[in-house]
Amino acid sequence: NWTAESFAETTVANLKQQLGDDRVVLGLSGGVDSSVAAMLIHQAIGKNLYCIFVDNGVLRKDEFAGVLESYKTLGLNVKGVDAKEQFYRALAGLTDPEAKRKAIGRTFIEVFDHEAHLIDGVSWLGQGTIYPDVIESVSVKGPSATIKSHHNVGGLPDFMKLKVVEPLNTLFKDEVRAVGRTLGLPEAILGRHPFPGPGLAIRILGDVTAEKVDILQQVDALFIDGLKREGLYDKVWQAGAMLLPVQSVGVMGDERTYERVVALRAVTSVDGMTADWAHLPYEFLADISNEIINRVKGVNRVVYDISSKPPATIEWE
Ligand code: XMP
Repeated sequence: NWTAESFAETTVANLKQQLGDDRVVLGLSGGVDSSVAAMLIHQAIGKNLYCIFVDNGVLRKDEFAGVLESYKTLGLNVKGVDAKEQFYRALAGLTDPEAKRKAIGRTFIEVFDHEAHLIDGVSWLGQGTIYPDVIESVSVKGPSATIKSHHNVGGLPDFMKLKVVEPLNTLFKDEVRAVGRTLGLPEAILGRHPFPGPGLAIRILGDVTAEKVDILQQVDALFIDGLKREGLYDKVWQAGAMLLPVQSVGVMGDERTYERVVALRAVTSVDGMTADWAHLPYEFLADISNEIINRVKGVNRVVYDISSKPPATIEWE
């Protein structure tokens, strides 16, 4: 019968066999899957695993520095790459959600490919693919189809030609967490809410600018910290804030204001396929709303999203 300990042990032994003295490059996202995959490969081959963690400019507040630090504490050979400006340039002026997703995907590939080329003699690409991803990519479109649509001129980027090592591709999410726990990954990484690859770019409705990212990061951090403080974080599947492309009239002292509106979203779910809006306590919502409006310059109204999926989606874009 399956246990996380025996899975980890066998997998590390197999990886040692398979990889020998080869070098592996792996992109860390801060999420559970890539982190656990990295830990397994690291246990097998140590410094021959080269991890790359990219700041795409649309991560949560302080996430890049914080997560990078915990990766280093875990002993991973990780390079943090600040590519914010490159992502902002690629996103400039884009408002269509799919266009934003593509710009981010394409820029990530450019950055990652560049970084992979800086590593001498790398022959493997490590990935945190889990079993549901395998199923999905077979039945829906396949990762290479997506990648190719971004790169239909010059063919595949070089790192996509590497041999692929995916130690988690037979596991479900809860099994991945269990393996991560036996490997000593901190709860801060294991218990993390899902966060979309395109990050805050798809939570800023309309075009993305550094100023809007800054506002949304502040709002999101107040909301998430509040959920943690009140013991609500682990009771919801996912939570975050959306910056809306409208302004609304407010009043501060005896001045009228005309500022931004943010929507808070928190959902309960088992797999993200369907979701219910989380029935957060009114008092909590009241406190968070006050805190956001008082502390985040440029925001004068907070609304709470009470839509379920379907027919709404978890994200707004
Ligand atoms: P929706 O909005 O479709 O989201 O109900 C379901 C889950 O998927 C995440 N999501 C994404 N994750 N790239 C990702 O890596 C994306 O483009 C993307 N869009 C949505 C969303 O955060 C939720 O967990």
